[in-house]
Amino acid sequence: MASKIKKVGVFTSGGDAPGMNAAIRAVVRSCAYYKIDCVGIYRGYQGMVEGDFISLNARSVNNIINKGGTILKTSRCQEFRTSEGRKKAFDHLKAEGIDALVVIGGDGSFTGGMIFSQEFDFPVMGIPGTIDNDIFGTLNTLGFDTALNTVVEVIDKIRDTASSHDRLFFVEVMGRDVGHIALNAGIGAGAEEILIPEEDLGLERLLESLKRSRASGKTSSIVVVAEGDRTGKNVFELKDYVKEHMPMYGVRVSVLGHLQRGGAPSCFDRVLASRMGVSAVEALLEGKTNLMVGIQNNEMILTPFEKAIKGRTKIDTELIRVSDIVTI
Ligand code: F6P
Repeated sequence: MASKIKKVGVFTSGGDAPGMNAAIRAVVRSCAYYKIDCVGIYRGYQGMVEGDFISLNARSVNNIINKGGTILKTSRCQEFRTSEGRKKAFDHLKAEGIDALVVIGGDGSFTGGMIFSQEFDFPVMGIPGTIDNDIFGTLNTLGFDTALNTVVEVIDKIRDTASSHDRLFFVEVMGRDVGHIALNAGIGAGAEEILIPEEDLGLERLLESLKRSRASGKTSSIVVVAEGDRTGKNVFELKDYVKEHMPMYGVRVSVLGHLQRGGAPSCFDRVLASRMGVSAVEALLEGKTNLMVGIQNNEMILTPFEKAIKGRTKIDTELIRVSDIVTI
C-alpha cells in the first residue's frame, strides 16, 4: 500500500554527537530516493515551536558525512514541555505540510517525540544520537564510537607526559550518569584504574590498586573517572586524597569535557548513521511510528520509544573482569 507520507521533517535534539550529520544526510537522501520531500528543522524542538525550517534535497547534504556537530544545530527546549508549545509546533508542521518526523537525539528527545506523536497522532521515528551510549534498544548510539576514539587518543597523549614525569593522572570523561565511555576508553587507553557509577569500588580499593601498581614497578598511572562516578569525591578531591595517602606520587587532573563531543565521526559511526537514517525513513513509509531504530547483532531493529526511554543500558561486567586482569 502506498504510504500517505509526503514530507518528512528531520531535526537534532539534546547534546550533539559525531555522526548526527551523517544521519541527517541519510534521512534526506532516503527521502529523495523514495521521492518524498524533506525539511530540516533547526535547533531541535525550539525550531519546531518557532517554525524555523529549511527545505533539504539530496544535494543539500553534500560533504557533511565527515563533519562533527549538526548542520541543523540542536538545543534543549523548555517550551515544548508545555501543551501550548507542542500545539505551536504542530501548527507550524501542518502549515509546512510536514506529515512525519525523524528525531535524532537521546532519551529526552524521544520523550518529547513520543508525547507529541500521541497528542497529535503524528508519525515519529527516533535515531539514537548521544556519545553516552545510554539508550536501551541499541548496542551503539551515534557518536559513542567516535567519542571512544577521541578519548583514547587524548589519554595516549596524557600518558606521554605522565610517564615522563612519573606522575599519576586522574582523567575525567563524559557519560552523564553511565560509565560506558570510561570503561571502554579506559581499557583501550590502558588505564590502571577505571571509576564508573555502576560499580563503586571505594577509595580504599583505589589506593590498594595504585600501591600495588607502584610496588610492581609502575612509576606513572592513569585513572579514568566517569563524570557520574559515585566515590563521593570529584577528580580534584580524588587528587588531594591520593596525594595525602601516596605523597611519593606527583598527581595531576585532566577534565576532557566537550572535546569528546566533537571531531569527524569514525567510519563505524558514519556507516551506523547511514543505516539508521535509511531504516527510520523506511519504517515511516511502512506506516510505523513511536519507534527508535537501533543496532543489535549487526542488524537494524525497532524499539518502542516507551522501552527505549525507560530501559537502562547495563555495563558489560565481562569488560570489568578484563580490565582487572590486564591492569595487573
Ligand atoms: O549527553 C551527552 C553529554 O555530553 C553528557 O555526557 C554530558 O554530561 C552532557 O551531555 C553535557 O551537557 P551540556 O552539553 O549541556 O553541558
